Amino acid sequence: MRILLLADIHSNWPALSAINETFDACLFLGDVVDYGSDPVPCIDWVRRYATAVVRGNHDHSVAQRVLMRPAGTFRRISAALRPHHFRVLSDDHLTWLARMPVTRYLTLGGHRLLLVHATPRDPMDEYIPDSEEQWQQRLEHVNVDFVCVGHTHIPMHLHLPNTQVINPGSVGQPRDGDPRAAYAVIDRGEVQMHRVAYDIDQCIDHMRQSGIDEEIVQKSEQILRTGGRTTTSALNEL
Ligand SMILES: [Fe+2]
Repeated sequence: MRILLLADIHSNWPALSAINETFDACLFLGDVVDYGSDPVPCIDWVRRYATAVVRGNHDHSVAQRVLMRPAGTFRRISAALRPHHFRVLSDDHLTWLARMPVTRYLTLGGHRLLLVHATPRDPMDEYIPDSEEQWQQRLEHVNVDFVCVGHTHIPMHLHLPNTQVINPGSVGQPRDGDPRAAYAVIDRGEVQMHRVAYDIDQCIDHMRQSGIDEEIVQKSEQILRTGGRTTTSALNEL
């Protein structure tokens, strides 16, 4: 059983389409939309290929038509891309986003898995860095083999006494200093972290063709080309 783990695609179709993996199951860990300008093929791909999905904070805010507060670079980019999302997404897309579950438990290939975008305590918003102590506190009573999360945009693989925690990193907006799309594979129980380069020019061109404000395009380009290495304060505005 080969399980593909994807998270934080963020409307970046060139990044998602660069992932060329065979898989028996695909698990999507939230934030398919926002920040990028091409949400439709991203949602359609996830709907077609993902065995199970969970909702991210950005999926939730787009589906509920809630604007992000205009403070900080990431929130400004999100606010600038929101009208574009409402233009190109159908009611069917928005309904699908709104109905994504916030947690999923499932068993695949004999592995028990918990899927959640952020943490089990606060499924869409809580931020925890790769601290074994903090994750252990939250997962003390969770009885699964793998806890699969997203949200931070930073790859992580923790071996805790009772489980493993995997964050595959972000497909469409990495923030660990490596601009390549990030994802993970669980292959017969073994966790592999992967990166793949993609066409960032195509992504930026699509933003310009979509009529996104030039200042926002340039900020997005800077984040995508540098792998958006973030500070603690920036992480507070995920
Ligand atoms: Fe995200």
